[in-house]
Amino acid sequence: MKKRVLITQHIPEEGIRLLENQFDLVYHDVRTPLPSSELLESCPDAAGVLCLLSDRISQDFISRLPSLKVISNYAVGINNIDLQAAKNRGVIVCNTPDVLTQATADLALGLLLAVARKLLPADRYCRNREFKGWASDLFAGFGFQGKQCGIIGMGKIGTAFAGRVKALGMTVVYHNRKIAESPEKSFSFSSLDDLIKNSDVISLHTPLTPETRHILSRERLLQMKKGSILINTGRGELIDEQALAEVLKSGHLYGAGLDVFENEPIIHPDLLTLDNVVLAPHIGSATLETRNEMAILAATAIIEVMQGLTPGNRVVI
Ligand code: DGY
Repeated sequence: MKKRVLITQHIPEEGIRLLENQFDLVYHDVRTPLPSSELLESCPDAAGVLCLLSDRISQDFISRLPSLKVISNYAVGINNIDLQAAKNRGVIVCNTPDVLTQATADLALGLLLAVARKLLPADRYCRNREFKGWASDLFAGFGFQGKQCGIIGMGKIGTAFAGRVKALGMTVVYHNRKIAESPEKSFSFSSLDDLIKNSDVISLHTPLTPETRHILSRERLLQMKKGSILINTGRGELIDEQALAEVLKSGHLYGAGLDVFENEPIIHPDLLTLDNVVLAPHIGSATLETRNEMAILAATAIIEVMQGLTPGNRVVI
């Protein structure tokens, strides 16, 4: 008898094709998360779960699937899964690293450029037919040459972003739990306090853990350099969003580019009204190529675990 695999939401066809011949799939082809109770009811004997970052895989969820062997998260971030509960049950957890590195770094750069050069207000200005001619101060923005970018979390995505801002003429400092084995000697380690006080741009690339939740607290947001830019393509909970809205409103920051939010899909209402903020609906990895590769990686991990192999993308807990 084929083992059963639960797929909690829509994923690209490539992933489904890999799994459908080998397993009895319970595929919820939906684009918003279903309640846990509904998922559990649909496949109580699941040996594998392929889930999205918007599914909460709690201790209770894991405990109700007695046949569960593997949870494969269609994301690199794994803060939606109770890792300790999985470990205690001997359930393997996998994610989708590497394949989304460049796409996510690209989006972080796109947000930075859009904020710095006021592209969204400038686009609206043109569409509203307000453009009456060239003027020396029209949408004059933030230049990059010689300024400092501080990267919090110098993993693969942070390093890819560092290369991009270096190309803009910025110097790069980073803060990490440990000194990164960085290929670039010009990227230097900094204490978190110094990075926050001295950077003209700060970009967040650290995983969300209990230690990094609100790593940009109100106090730290106020310590950021006046006129600096904040970019977040990591997780919304890294920032105190209420405090960020206030700091942006006060004009202390030049602006912010945000792809992730503290209570997704809800966005703090004040952020929606501010002109110096560029918002994106958590699309860091959203290129067609990357999303297909993520599906293949997530599906392959399930196949490998069922074959008794250890996937390279197994999360070490
Ligand atoms: C991830 O993979 O964790 C991203 O946030 C989604 O692309």
